[in-house]
Amino acid sequence: MSQRTRGDHLAAGSTRYGRGLIVPAALSTLGAAAIHLSVVPDHLSEYLPFGVLFLVTGAIQAALAVIAIVRPHRIVFVAVIGVAVGCMAVWTVSRTVGLPFGPNEKDIAVQGSDPLVVLLEVLTSSGLAGVITSLLELVSVLLLGVVLWRGPRARKSSRRWLAGTIPAAVPIAFAAFVGVEAGLNPLPYAVNMSTADSRTGTPMSILVEAPGTQPLRSFVLTAEVADVNGRHAWTYNGVVPGPELRVKQGERVRVTLVNHLPAPTTIHWHGYPLPNAEDGVAGLTQDAVKPGNSYTYEFVATIPGTYWYHAHQDTEHQVPMGLYGALVVEPSEATGYDVDRTVIIGDADLPDASQHIVAAPGQRVHLRVISAYGEDMTGDPEVLTVVGAPYQVVAIDGHDLNGPGQLGPERIMIDTGQRYDLAFTMPPSGQVRLVDTRKQTGSRLIRREWADLGSGPLPALPQGRLPVFDLTHYGAPAPDLVADASNFDVSATLAISNQVGIRYGSYQFVHMFNGRSFPDTPVILVHVGDLVRLQLVNLTDEYHPIHLHGHIMSVIARNGRRIEGSPVHLDSILVGPHETWTVAFLADNPGLWMIHCHILVHAAYGLSAMVSYVGIWTPYSIGTKSGNFPE
Ligand code: C2O
Ligand code: CU
Repeated sequence: MSQRTRGDHLAAGSTRYGRGLIVPAALSTLGAAAIHLSVVPDHLSEYLPFGVLFLVTGAIQAALAVIAIVRPHRIVFVAVIGVAVGCMAVWTVSRTVGLPFGPNEKDIAVQGSDPLVVLLEVLTSSGLAGVITSLLELVSVLLLGVVLWRGPRARKSSRRWLAGTIPAAVPIAFAAFVGVEAGLNPLPYAVNMSTADSRTGTPMSILVEAPGTQPLRSFVLTAEVADVNGRHAWTYNGVVPGPELRVKQGERVRVTLVNHLPAPTTIHWHGYPLPNAEDGVAGLTQDAVKPGNSYTYEFVATIPGTYWYHAHQDTEHQVPMGLYGALVVEPSEATGYDVDRTVIIGDADLPDASQHIVAAPGQRVHLRVISAYGEDMTGDPEVLTVVGAPYQVVAIDGHDLNGPGQLGPERIMIDTGQRYDLAFTMPPSGQVRLVDTRKQTGSRLIRREWADLGSGPLPALPQGRLPVFDLTHYGAPAPDLVADASNFDVSATLAISNQVGIRYGSYQFVHMFNGRSFPDTPVILVHVGDLVRLQLVNLTDEYHPIHLHGHIMSVIARNGRRIEGSPVHLDSILVGPHETWTVAFLADNPGLWMIHCHILVHAAYGLSAMVSYVGIWTPYSIGTKSGNFPE
């Protein structure tokens, strides 16, 4: 390049600015411009002034970047630096204290006390695009700062600057590419999950529990921050798990949620077939309850069994923080158990201490095991074993099994969301133990002793590999109108896959049903009275307990083999690696219902879909506008 190219004419005499730093700085600015432009469509629909601001900023940066290369001049560099510093300042304010105008991003529940974790969460919770833009801007500011400080110098024409520019261009282009991808896939602003038209359809908000004369049981659950065993927890009434709600079949349950948390929340009644408006899903059946507000849920305890409740707003964070508890509906007729207790497992935040349950020799015990959460990315289930007495699995997910046989020590796989009801008679001497025998890395074989019952010596753990409890071959066959149906009104397949990608503005291990992640996942449309057959196909190496709200599924087959024992009725189907489960349910509960993996990170990474009744719509929406994020 000659010493008198147009780009150099402003530099005095034979001196000029070296391109070695200008070109990378201009590329960084161009990258920031591209990311600003990539978020324009989203921001235009969210808040017009923001959209225009990003459009203008991106255009100005792009123009300055080009001018900086073709006509390098001090004034251009100062302008680039000025725009970059301004953008970084606005971004920092918006990510910390919030801008005093326009919509602000999602209220995130920042947990833990590690400042680095908190910082990362604040920076990336919804804005990989913002983080990368600011980094690129910082690079341009630093490089141009050096250029200005050095000033123009006499230099020979050479292409030496290329030697530095090409290696610098690669990471800059990569960062810009990632930023643009993130910008094009932002957190949703306002997604309404209705499939019906609000002018002709029925709003789900009228689908509440109708008044009635059932005996009333009222509870208050105050969601509040508390120190539990030295841990900063989010609790109901100060305890983790929350108080057990134990009612009788036929009673009317009224629960008032009072929110004293620093974030919005809801309560979902996991497994219970209640009216849609009582289901507690943020952005679908209600707005999340803001701090300081309260909300009342009401439903009739129509069926007995073991259920549980948990937050269904920002579930991925709120449940592990401690927002869950047991819901037990005792059957109206007498049961013949002397001891009836609940064990909630999977709460890795609690101290490693076993629950001791008093029981005398010869007493009949009903142990209700609830898996509230386990957060391995692989979704590995707990592997429970009962030792010390032969036992039966009398119910799964709250629904009785027919003719359950006696079991010796077996491995029961139970994953998040599932419930197993165990029954046994206390032996003449010694204790009965409920332990998790899941293999751990390292030398420890036993992860957790969950419960000991009775007194006397602890029975030894069985050696060697135990058989695995198989719910498809247990108990006695009986007719099941749903599983035995020969015709289904709706048949749907949900194939589960995963891959790394950008979703909700960040890199995620994206989880998908039929190749799409929530909220773009397929909707299973049903009418009241439909028999619906579902095929759950797991294409991954992970476990996925797939939970359907508001309905009870009958298991038909696993891997194409029909179940042979008792009919099995579940709300959470544990689909193991590369398994296929065939299930069916009767669509008898109109509304908009979620079906999702109960490994909370999988759901948060997109493994969630909808079963929607034709003609029903919701007035609520998911996204940053409302702050409702059910996952
Ligand atoms: Cu236990 Cu959608 O939840
Ligand atoms: Cu999963």
